[in-house]
Amino acid sequence: MDVIEVIVAKRDGGELTGAQIDWVIDAYTRGEVADEQMAALAMAILLNGMNRREIAGWTRAMIDSGERMDWSALDRPTADKHSTGGVGDKITLPLAPLVAACGAYVPQLSGRGLGHTGGTLDKLESIPGWRASLSNDEMLGVLREAGAVVCAAGSGLAPADKKLYALRDVTGTVESIPLIASSIMSKKIAEGTGSLVLDVKVGSGAFMKTSERARELAETMVALGADAGVRTVALLTAMDRPLGLAVGNALEVEESVEVLAGGGPSDVVELTVRLAREMLEAAGVSGKDPADALRDGSAMDAWRRMIAAQGGDPDAPLPRAAETLTVEAPSTGVLTRLDAYAVGLAAWRLGAGRARKEDPVSAGAGVTLHAKPGDRVTRGEPLLTLHADDAARFERALAALEGGYAVGETAGDVLPLVIERV
Ligand code: URA
Repeated sequence: MDVIEVIVAKRDGGELTGAQIDWVIDAYTRGEVADEQMAALAMAILLNGMNRREIAGWTRAMIDSGERMDWSALDRPTADKHSTGGVGDKITLPLAPLVAACGAYVPQLSGRGLGHTGGTLDKLESIPGWRASLSNDEMLGVLREAGAVVCAAGSGLAPADKKLYALRDVTGTVESIPLIASSIMSKKIAEGTGSLVLDVKVGSGAFMKTSERARELAETMVALGADAGVRTVALLTAMDRPLGLAVGNALEVEESVEVLAGGGPSDVVELTVRLAREMLEAAGVSGKDPADALRDGSAMDAWRRMIAAQGGDPDAPLPRAAETLTVEAPSTGVLTRLDAYAVGLAAWRLGAGRARKEDPVSAGAGVTLHAKPGDRVTRGEPLLTLHADDAARFERALAALEGGYAVGETAGDVLPLVIERV
């Protein structure tokens, strides 16, 4: 087969055949198709799209590029959740042990943050001793011990996606619904979960800025899951403002532990419980309600077992940044807007995120919110606290926040926390 023919077919708005898709993904994974050729094809796909048949074929070819995990040795159903990423989105941390405490196994492969969105593994790595890299046997051991495991995907899982995602990241070809849907679903299907709940974020802090785009992505992913025999549902949820009151690695672990202890911000608790109920329903597990498992301490027990089984000390003090700076409310009134992207960018510039994959992150850096949109604020009182290891970072973080919040007379429009179910 000739790669130029495949590129030209898509460039001219044609449909790729199953054989073309299988060949191009396999040849790219083996290095026979060059990065610049795949970049041209990815751009042609971004501009001209793919139909459902092409997307399903593309996803299957990416799954077939590597191993498929198998949890059939476990005695209970498996359930997983995937979020398309946002600011302050620490939900996986309380959710995985919560669902385990209610009776399903949660084998969750997670990623690191890139850009303004945080990554679950970076957050958990702020816990002293905790290890993200596990072999398949170790994963099974942690699942049996704690009911939930959150770790990095091994290099054998959807290697075509690993290579393609890194290429898309540097060629302006991330924002394509067919490519995002196939990238996410190839990894989740290869991970071997029996059921999957997708949290598709909408708003300034998300990939998808509008509900229409998010709905299209959600419907595409739900169809891919169903085709592969994975019971899949999606929620569209708000990412116009940050989730919870903490943005940053250790800060978000601290907030997650508050939720597991029965407290925590109401939006984090509400979304965690809603997603847990969806996961249990998709997995066909009934019994304990997630709200009860937060109250009776069983979710916290599962968290402690999960962290300890991966080498972490759940009682160790979390790292803190050396420097803090308070941003005060500019006037008295109602906080009408606190933009998720502005806060995410500020946290990134404070050191919580990375610009390149190989960069380290600061465990203690980030932003603490003292008010959310709709809350009353008083001029001169703290609105945000910035945390950084080095005070020189504050200037650029403050610049990121400029225009990112507003105080007015009456509450502004915010998206409902859960917008719709797909
Ligand atoms: N997350 C992924 O895993 N892939 C994408 O393409 C976008 C977000």
